[in-house]
Amino acid sequence: MSIDAIKSATVNIASDPIESVTLRHATLADAPALALAGAGTFLEAFTWMLPGADIVAHCLKHHTAEVYAHYMEHPDTRVTLAVTSPAVGFEEEPGSVVGYVLLCAPELPTFNVLPTDIELKRIYLFSRFRTAPVLDAEGDAIPGLRPAQALLDATVADARALGRSRLLLGTHAGNLRAIAFYRRNGFTEAGTRTFHVGNQVCSDLIFAKVL
Ligand SMILES: CC(C)(COP(=O)(O)OP(=O)(O)OC[C@H]1O[C@@H](n2cnc3c(N)ncnc32)[C@H](O)[C@@H]1OP(=O)(O)O)[C@@H](O)C(=O)NCCC(=O)NCCS
Repeated sequence: MSIDAIKSATVNIASDPIESVTLRHATLADAPALALAGAGTFLEAFTWMLPGADIVAHCLKHHTAEVYAHYMEHPDTRVTLAVTSPAVGFEEEPGSVVGYVLLCAPELPTFNVLPTDIELKRIYLFSRFRTAPVLDAEGDAIPGLRPAQALLDATVADARALGRSRLLLGTHAGNLRAIAFYRRNGFTEAGTRTFHVGNQVCSDLIFAKVL
């Protein structure tokens, strides 16, 4: 990229700092990008409630390309990505993964899981993109749609397409923002569990939504 192009891009970014996102299903090739976004968003989300070393240990174990590739190989897994528009000066190259939702076979060993259940394992979006415009297939912003809502709508559609009748999830009892988001989307409290992050044992709530 030339110096002039960089200067021009800097001006564009300074005058228009709003980046848009589009949604698409992930493929196996997205596993490294998912690992990066998974670890980065986990760190951003939980610095206020977890020691740094436990966040690092958790991400090294659960947010690796191998772990995401393993999920993707399972027939019940669906991952939807929120991807930025191409970077300035790189219009032919895809943007970056800044959010995702992971739907998978339930991993809730202490909960009475039914064969028709599926789990919303993770929904994470970097805070900078939570109010970004969501573009449709034609590149037009979808009025009134926020990226997290678009991700949730996509995973509900995937769960229904898989023929499941209930969507389960676990979230930290102190994650009030996520809980408000889930309640607004028709999830109700269905149980509790403990969840390990590094050496920490967290108290989670389990929520369910009938599909
Ligand atoms: C969870 C997440 C996907 C939700 O997306 P979002 O764009 O923040 O969601 P919205 O802003 O639409 O909804 C958040 C709700 O929480 C409310 N809220 C915000 N801060 C809050 C707080 N501190 N306490 C209680 N409610 C709060 C908002 O008012 C809104 O509720 P409303 O629509 O009834 O007004 C997003 O916040 C995120 O990625 N968080 C970090 C990762 C995470 O925690 N994921 C869930 C782990 S299980």
